[in-house]
Amino acid sequence: MIAASSSDDVGRAAAALVAEGNPAVVGVATGSSPITAYRELVRHRSLCDDVQLWLLDEYVGLPARHPCRYRSVIIEQLARPLGLPDHQVHGPDVDAADLDDAAERYEEDLRRLGGVDVQILGIGRNGHIGFNEPGTPFGSRAHAGVLTETTRADNARFFRDLDDVPHRMITQGLGTIAAARRIVLIASGPTKRDAITTLLTCPPTTDLPASALLDHPDVTIIGDQAALAGVLDHSTLVEHT
Ligand code: GLP
Repeated sequence: MIAASSSDDVGRAAAALVAEGNPAVVGVATGSSPITAYRELVRHRSLCDDVQLWLLDEYVGLPARHPCRYRSVIIEQLARPLGLPDHQVHGPDVDAADLDDAAERYEEDLRRLGGVDVQILGIGRNGHIGFNEPGTPFGSRAHAGVLTETTRADNARFFRDLDDVPHRMITQGLGTIAAARRIVLIASGPTKRDAITTLLTCPPTTDLPASALLDHPDVTIIGDQAALAGVLDHSTLVEHT
């Protein structure tokens, strides 16, 4: 665990771990948590020109260039600022008629590419990672599914209003995520405190999807003071420069 004293420090610590070893395939999450890490990766141009960015999850039902499509977000926040072509940003085919088949193909394409070297993750208030909601089996692979109302409500801030938030998605499964060689999970803000406290103090359970990662040999949780408040002795806070 890395405890950072500000969201900029969270970003610096995460970016350093992500760039280490010059990864060929980086698994990318969206949401507010990774934004400062992406800013750092761009500022130091830390990723190689032929890096492949592999989306963690994607909404179903938004038009191709909708700004809330996760592929659009990653192109805007990371790929274009790094000078990477759009075709190096890979997402599941959420426009397919058969979403289960699209999810299987997404899993297969990742296997063919050699898997994810480093996976960046946020965490939902209910402990979800990607769009793997509580109850998702730990070994699950990429799949299509329905969002919980909690997650739709949490994500409504990125849309005009709640009605615009899609109901369906395709996500990497918990088993897919756990197969990444390195995992960097970023948690910022007080709304993540309960999930992080449970994650770091209780045995793994499918009620808290992120706990599927507790056995992973190379997982780092990077949080700010608010997110780690339930598990942290504040004297251990460190700054990353
Ligand atoms: C969404 C994304 C997740 C992300 C979570 C937390 O549901 N699908 O991948 O981790 O939100 O987002 P935030 O970092 O904005 O709190």
